Amino acid sequence: MSQTDQPVFDLANGYELRPWCLDDAKVLADSCQDADVQHWNRPGRLSLDDARDRIVRWEKRWRTDKAAIWAIAEPGGGSPVGLIGLADFDLDGGSAEFLYWLLPAGRGRGAMVDAIVRVSRWALEDLGLHRLRITHSVANAASCRVAEKAGFALEGTMRSALLHSDGWHDEHLHARVQGDAWPW
Ligand SMILES: CC(C)(COP(=O)(O)OP(=O)(O)OC[C@H]1O[C@@H](n2cnc3c(N)ncnc32)[C@H](O)[C@@H]1OP(=O)(O)O)[C@@H](O)C(=O)NCCC(=O)NCCS
Repeated sequence: MSQTDQPVFDLANGYELRPWCLDDAKVLADSCQDADVQHWNRPGRLSLDDARDRIVRWEKRWRTDKAAIWAIAEPGGGSPVGLIGLADFDLDGGSAEFLYWLLPAGRGRGAMVDAIVRVSRWALEDLGLHRLRITHSVANAASCRVAEKAGFALEGTMRSALLHSDGWHDEHLHARVQGDAWPW
C-alpha cells in the first residue's frame, strides 16, 4: 500500500470510490450531524479543522499501511455521500475490518453492498489479505443485510461489545475469507 497511490474504483450504481481530499472536510464535519451516522458509527462531533486533520491522518494511514479509507462520491469530483474503508490492518496476519456509512442522499440504491464487494476484491485478490470482518450492533438491521448481501457470513454474536449512546449493544461478527464465493 505505502508504495502506491490509493486506487480509485468505479461502482456499478454511478458512484466511485476515491480518497478523501481537504475540499471534503465540510461534508465530513456535517456527516456527524446525521442522526444515524452519529448513532451507529459514533464519529463524535468534528469541527472543520478536526475534519481536515482526520483527512490528513487517513492519507498518512494509507502511506503507513494502517488503513484504507475512501469517499463514495459522484465521479468527477462530486461531493461525498458516504465513506467506506478498511482499518485495523494486520498485513502480516492477513486481516482487516470494514467501516462504512452513507448519508441519506446515498442510501437506498445498493451503493454500500457494491462498495464492500469492490474493496473486498481489492483487499483479498490484489493486496493478498486472508480474512475481512464486518461488525455491527445486532439492532442495526440495515447493516446486517448489507453484510449478508456482500457475502459476509454471520459467524456469531459478541455480547455487550459496543457502547452506543443508549448503552451497550451486542454485536454481530460477519466475515469473508479467501475462497468464499462472490455475490457477483
Ligand atoms: C447501513 C447502510 C450503509 C445501508 O445502506 P443503504 O443504502 O441504506 O442500504 P440499501 O438501501 O442498499 O439496502 C441494502 C439492503 O438492506 C435492507 N435494508 C435497508 N434498510 C433497512 C432497515 N432499516 N432494516 C432492515 N433492512 C434494511 C434493504 O432492504 C436491502 O436488502 P434487500 O435488497 O434484501 O431488500 C446505510 O443505511 C447507513 O449508512 N446507515 C447509517 C449509518 C450506519 O448504519 N452505519 C453502519 C455502521 S456498522
